[in-house]
Amino acid sequence: MEYLTLNNGLSVPAIGFGTYKAAVEEGETVLQNAIRTGYRYFDTASFYENEEILGKALRESGLPRQEFFVASKVWKTEMGYENTKAALDRSLKRLGMDYLDFYLVHWPKADLEDTQWAFRLSETWRAMEDAQKAGKIRGLGVSNCLPHHLEVILESGTIMPAIDQIEFHPGYLQLETVEKCQSLGIQVQAWSPMGRARVLQDALLCEMAEKYGVSTAQLCLKFARQMQVMPLPKATAPERMLQNLSLDGFTISAEDVEALKNMPRTGWSGEHPDRERVPANS
Ligand code: A2P
Repeated sequence: MEYLTLNNGLSVPAIGFGTYKAAVEEGETVLQNAIRTGYRYFDTASFYENEEILGKALRESGLPRQEFFVASKVWKTEMGYENTKAALDRSLKRLGMDYLDFYLVHWPKADLEDTQWAFRLSETWRAMEDAQKAGKIRGLGVSNCLPHHLEVILESGTIMPAIDQIEFHPGYLQLETVEKCQSLGIQVQAWSPMGRARVLQDALLCEMAEKYGVSTAQLCLKFARQMQVMPLPKATAPERMLQNLSLDGFTISAEDVEALKNMPRTGWSGEHPDRERVPANS
């Protein structure tokens, strides 16, 4: 497995496992299979309501805690200085761990109407910085932050985010955010790197995948890697989990990377940090 070195000096696997929904529906088996398949970086959140089973699956794997990277997130309703500290303690308790590898702000705004969001975000970040200093977190990050949200943290904080986790897949790249993060040395992570399977039937992707002799899922994940993005694919079947880690045998040509970058909007979830959710695919 390839590793990436982040701006805080930590090295992490270049592909992580996304646990949203996958783990809730199928329970612990999915996580046990992901560990057996070789995943070592697990992305969860208090919102996913699966921290307890993730902690249990990691403990019962028999592997030492240090083998794993565990990232969780503070939910919208948990933001603010005191709330965030309490939310982190609850996450640690549910996971049964005494430290997290990464703690991320899940969304920059608790409420789209909130005119105080920048203050709330900076207070959330301040609590996270203090928790890192106290040894409860090894690295800090954000999720769904666009450049103007990142600016708030850059101005008020003292620790640079190591990660910004955003929706990223062919058909929805958020390139402005990717470029901003990359210029700052912030690692972009992709949630829904396959557009929650919505893009897997796309004609261009299917044709290109066939040309390289890979699955459309592998094409999406390799594209993320070639864009220096760390994907967090979700899968329930062990063979898909393995397939999603097996990206070494091919390289997407520069011309095809351009074609993927220029695809029309496809498979967008409809989620946006500054706007009400719109129906998927619009
Ligand atoms: P399943 O959970 O049945 O394995 P994303 O990570 O972009 O949110 O996408 C997750 C979706 O993609 C799930 O529906 C998952 O199906 C599906 N998926 C994951 N890996 C593959 C794969 N290698 N081939 C086809 N579909 C996949």
